[in-house]
Order: sequence, then structure tokens, then C-alpha cells
Amino acid sequence: MADALLSLKDVRAGYGAAVVLDGISFDVPVRGSLAVLGRNGVGKSTLLLTIMGFTAIARGAVLWRGEDITRLPPNRRAQEGIGWVAQEREIFPSLTVEENLTVASRPGDWNLKKVYDLFPRLHERRGNKGNHLSGGEQQMLATARALMTNPDLLLLDEPLEGLAPIIVEELSAAIGRLAAEQGMTLILVEQHAEIALSLTDEAVVIERGTIAHRARSKDLLADQATLDRLIGLKVEA
Ligand SMILES: Nc1ncnc2c1ncn2[C@@H]1O[C@H](COP(=O)(O)OP(=O)(O)OP(=O)(O)O)[C@@H](O)[C@H]1O
Ligand SMILES: [Mg+2]
Repeated sequence: MADALLSLKDVRAGYGAAVVLDGISFDVPVRGSLAVLGRNGVGKSTLLLTIMGFTAIARGAVLWRGEDITRLPPNRRAQEGIGWVAQEREIFPSLTVEENLTVASRPGDWNLKKVYDLFPRLHERRGNKGNHLSGGEQQMLATARALMTNPDLLLLDEPLEGLAPIIVEELSAAIGRLAAEQGMTLILVEQHAEIALSLTDEAVVIERGTIAHRARSKDLLADQATLDRLIGLKVEA
């Protein structure tokens, strides 16, 4: 696809000799959004780690704006505009919210004002240390910090995991605005399938390291039987 921002072509990847992903192919167009669904341990985080360059790629290719970046190290991929929020969030505990944001800052449209507009709660907490934040606030901070690097693609690894329902709502609304209003290109790994599908254009379901199903998100959202078979419907609290 000529206008793909990111393409994976028949990727096989894992850790050392252990293969976790195999035969993975998809394209994400500029301003597109892809939900990556699947049960625990199927390889969703490994997929994002592979896009960032942290795994061993044994076969296939990763293309960024049509250029082969399969052998490019993670820091170079970040510089090229791939932003990633790890499942572990990894904010700096001894820095304030604002310091966490400013250390990550790189030139571009996203600045403190813009991330505080997206996450007003972070503005309220801007003087709090990272270790004095709730799980939801930490996730907002990790996401905002990735935005401060002004990425062209944002990879989010289970941002809603373990959060209270009210925070799930607040955060998913922000992710929705990021995609719809700001036009951010997104890959959203989630186990909250229905929410992820409501926020994205396209979806893939991973099973044992391969893509078991792909569909338009709105079609998969309407296809409860397939959702149930592949992931078991996560009850939205
Ligand atoms: N650093 C690592 N070294 C070796 N194997 C790993 C490593 N990280 C993950 N794995 C293995 O890779 C497989 C996929 O793990 P991964 O974390 O990608 O799954 P996941 O879909 O993100 O799961 P979850 O929903 O629990 O986050 C698992 O079998 C896991 O044990
Ligand atoms: Mg994971």
C-alpha cells in the first residue's frame, strides 16, 4: 500500500531463538487506527516491541513510510516518529507530572498546553510526583509523555488495563479525541475489545502469534460470535 505509514510484511519475531510471532502482515495508513486484540500471552506486547525494534526479527520486514527499518535500533525508530507507551507505563516516580512531560519534549505541535487540554487531570496534578498518582493518572501521564515526543504513530499497550470504570471512560474518550480530532495514527492493544473497536478503524485478532482474524472495527464490533470465539467477551464493568 503506497500510502501506508507502517507496514509489517510476513514478520517472524521473538526473543532469542524463541519465536513468538509468525506471518504477521498489516498496513497502517496515515491517520489510520488499528486495534490489536487477543487473549493473555498471545503476543500483543511482542508485536509492539517488534515495531519498536526490541525483538529479534528472524524473517520478513518492517517498513516505515515505505523504507525498510527492520534493522534500525529502537532509539532511531523513536527519532523517526514512532511513539510507544509500554504496558508497564514506566513514568519517573521522583519527578513531578510536569517534569515527566518536559524531559520527553521534542519540537512539534504537542506541548504542555496541548497535552493538558487533552488531559485536564494532569494539569490539576502537574506538581505531584509520579509515585503519587493513581493508576489512571499514571497512564494518562505515560500517554501524554509519549505525545510530547511528537510522534507520527502512537503505540498504546493496554492503556485501560486495571483502571476503575470511570477512569476507563475518561481515558478512552481522550484516546478517541486523539484519533478523531487530532488525526493521530494509532495502534491500540487492548483486552477491552468493545472499547478498542469503538475507537479504531481496523482490527486484528492475534492467536498464538498469528493473525487469526482481521476486519473493519465496526464490523467486528457487530460480530459478537467471532469476538466470543477468539477472545471471549470481556465484560465491560
Ligand atoms: N522478554 C521475553 N523473553 C522471552 N519470552 C517472552 C518475553 N516477553 C514475553 N515472552 C513470551 O512471549 C509470549 C507473548 O507474550 P506477550 O507479552 O507479547 O503477550 P501479550 O499478548 O502482550 O499478553 P498480555 O495480554 O498478558 O499482556 C508469551 O509466551 C511470553 O511468555
Ligand atoms: Mg501484553
